[in-house]
Amino acid sequence: EKGLNCSHLSTTLICLPELDSTNARARQLAEEDAAEGTVVIADRQSAGRGRLGRCWESPSAVNLYCSILLRPQIPVQQAPQLTFLSAVAVAETLQQLYRIDAKVKWPNDVLVDGKKIAGLLNEMNAETEQIHFVILGIGVNLNMSTEQFPEELNYPATSVLIETGQQVDRPAFVRALLQLLDDYYGEFLQQGFVSIRRRWETLCDMMSQRVSVDNSMFGTVVGLDSDGALRLQLDDGHIERVMAGDVRPQ
Ligand code: BTN
Repeated sequence: EKGLNCSHLSTTLICLPELDSTNARARQLAEEDAAEGTVVIADRQSAGRGRLGRCWESPSAVNLYCSILLRPQIPVQQAPQLTFLSAVAVAETLQQLYRIDAKVKWPNDVLVDGKKIAGLLNEMNAETEQIHFVILGIGVNLNMSTEQFPEELNYPATSVLIETGQQVDRPAFVRALLQLLDDYYGEFLQQGFVSIRRRWETLCDMMSQRVSVDNSMFGTVVGLDSDGALRLQLDDGHIERVMAGDVRPQ
């Protein structure tokens, strides 16, 4: 791909008009021994996957649907760190290219003013200690208009077009994103999670804020742990580690 200077990513770049899900295709390729850095992009998905078994709205030729195959030699417990790495790269690319005030929401959303602009779905294949592969699934709403969002979405959503009034050059966005992901992945392999974690905490929309978890636990967000748990300081002062749940501002 023109203009890309990646050391790990984009060893192979596969762009197709339609797939059921780029994550599903990347997983197949991984099982057929495709190389680390293989990137799969589709113009539209007929069965885009979201978290918790939801589907991901994937209309034609407006957004980015992308999956990246990685084969990091790291302990299985560290695999969730890659979700935060991709959230940081997406948020910073949106900031740098379009001056959008993108934030990250734990565990794996990118938001603008509380509205979802991107979702991440990482899938892993591992045996006890050994990771065979990780698929970074990235969906970013670029040129989607308000009318193209389904009415019954269970969260508020937005796109770059809605935020800026400008159409996005999709290849330019992909290039910038892959470049930044490549930089951060290289840094991650060499130096570990420390600087990604710091960047994520800086971008976190709820840092130092009072939140509820599943409407049953209340506290202040104080950081991210290296296994991906959200650190919450409860009213009695002790730190609770949140591994799953719906975190909302109070
Ligand atoms: C979520 O927020 O629920 C995660 C959404 C992830 C969507 C992306 S689009 C590209 C990749 N392929 C998929 O089927 N899903 C992810």
